[in-house]
Amino acid sequence: MRITLEPISSKDYEGNVVFLYGNEVSDRNLPLSKKEIEWLKVRRSADSYSVVVFDRLPYHLFVVNFDADSPAVDNQEKLRRSADKVVSMLKDMKQDSVGITGEGTIPEEVVAFLEGMMLSDYSFDRYKNETPSHIEHVAVDPIYLKQEELERNERLWNRIYWCREWVNMPVADLNAESFAAELEEIARDLNVKCTVFDKKKIEALRMGGLLGVNKGSVDEPRFVVLEYCPDNAINSRPIALVGKGVMYDTGGLNIKPDDYMREMKSDMAGAATMASVLFAAADNQLPVHLVALLPMTDNRPGFNAYAADDVLTMYDGTTVEVVNTDAEGRLILADAIAYAVRNYEPELLIDAATLTGAAVRAIGTYGIAAMQQNADNPFHLLKIMGNQVYERIAELPFWREYDELIKSDVADIKNCGISQAGAITAGKFLAHFAKTTPYIHLDIAGVAFFSKKQEYYTCGASGYGIRLLYSFLQTYEVTKGEHQPTVS
Ligand code: BES
Ligand code: ZN
Ligand code: ZN
Repeated sequence: MRITLEPISSKDYEGNVVFLYGNEVSDRNLPLSKKEIEWLKVRRSADSYSVVVFDRLPYHLFVVNFDADSPAVDNQEKLRRSADKVVSMLKDMKQDSVGITGEGTIPEEVVAFLEGMMLSDYSFDRYKNETPSHIEHVAVDPIYLKQEELERNERLWNRIYWCREWVNMPVADLNAESFAAELEEIARDLNVKCTVFDKKKIEALRMGGLLGVNKGSVDEPRFVVLEYCPDNAINSRPIALVGKGVMYDTGGLNIKPDDYMREMKSDMAGAATMASVLFAAADNQLPVHLVALLPMTDNRPGFNAYAADDVLTMYDGTTVEVVNTDAEGRLILADAIAYAVRNYEPELLIDAATLTGAAVRAIGTYGIAAMQQNADNPFHLLKIMGNQVYERIAELPFWREYDELIKSDVADIKNCGISQAGAITAGKFLAHFAKTTPYIHLDIAGVAFFSKKQEYYTCGASGYGIRLLYSFLQTYEVTKGEHQPTVS
């Protein structure tokens, strides 16, 4: 989707036009007859967020209603959703271009609409002999948006696009080695340092979690470290972004039954998300020092696979009893978190992981199940930003009683608790490795990959969480240095 800025007069524009109509007071620019305006007002009062289409053969006018006086956040989400409707309508009409104008519309509203269009227009096409249709060209009236603003947003959307491509790729075509190589190549073009640890190095570092999970695989593991450290960084110690990179999760010897294995190519969405956030920050030169730590392997029941009852010694020396080989994400993340804490002393550590089915059962596919330790202030900011960009987080408790559930008889801790509170015990397992570092855990199992289209998130990989974390980093300065310890 190519977006250009050019003047659009809704009255004589030769093409499809979207008119963002937030305020009834002025309808002078609407290219409609009196009767049509009356009709529009009836539709508006029935549903102030409707999309009303006027046939102007060979083109169409889409009036996108919203209420400019409503809270900005509501409007922006409604506009993303309306954009999704308009994209579907255009495709049904076999149209591939549109101009966007409005009345009294502010740039944030136009950006939200474009964002909805971009996200909605995505499909995973690389294995299709016949490419599905896409919106080719969108022209936006420059009254509503500056070139610089457009380009900053386009760079972010490009990262979301790539995250979705990686997550949608099957493991046969994207394994730990090739994913690491791809990240290395992108980092080379940006002000980002990339270090890739191969199996030998991972062995030398004694990352027992990552090596344990990798034992049943024919592919080598990788551990990727990305670092973005601009001269004008507002933080002296980095923010660490840790992402689960299970390239495919069969469950290992505790193999996933029936359909439960479907879609497990998406089990590296955490790593893809965190790499994309760091790249987006570098693309747009945000003044924050970031480091991303991305452990990568697939989880397979190959002949030397790790087994339940094995005891693994993690990077920080903690011993872990394996109770279930399908709880593999926390094992590779534990090494990454411990590595971040020891080598970077981050002022804040955030992880993103498709970690538990329990998180999906708890809150469904409408947000991220989140937990935190010693990170009240940044967590508060993250929650606000989540509501703002509509990638929301719901906090689960992190009471000390849950720690009891992962104590082991044979090792320091074990990799599963009981059948209850599974999302929380998984988080608690990870928090053990964060020690006193302010820590936020994001379980994205419910939102990283949609089995069917959900509003402007198309079927498959969503890129959910990138806009959340990017907007958090943009506003991070506000809470800097104000972390207060939580008592659990
Ligand atoms: N990758 C899965 C979690 C998952 C489930 C992600 C559904 C997306 C959708 C994870 O590795 C896993 O298998 N977790 C187990 C943990 C259990 C064995 C304690 C689960 O949630 O069932
Ligand atoms: Zn698993
Ligand atoms: Zn997994």
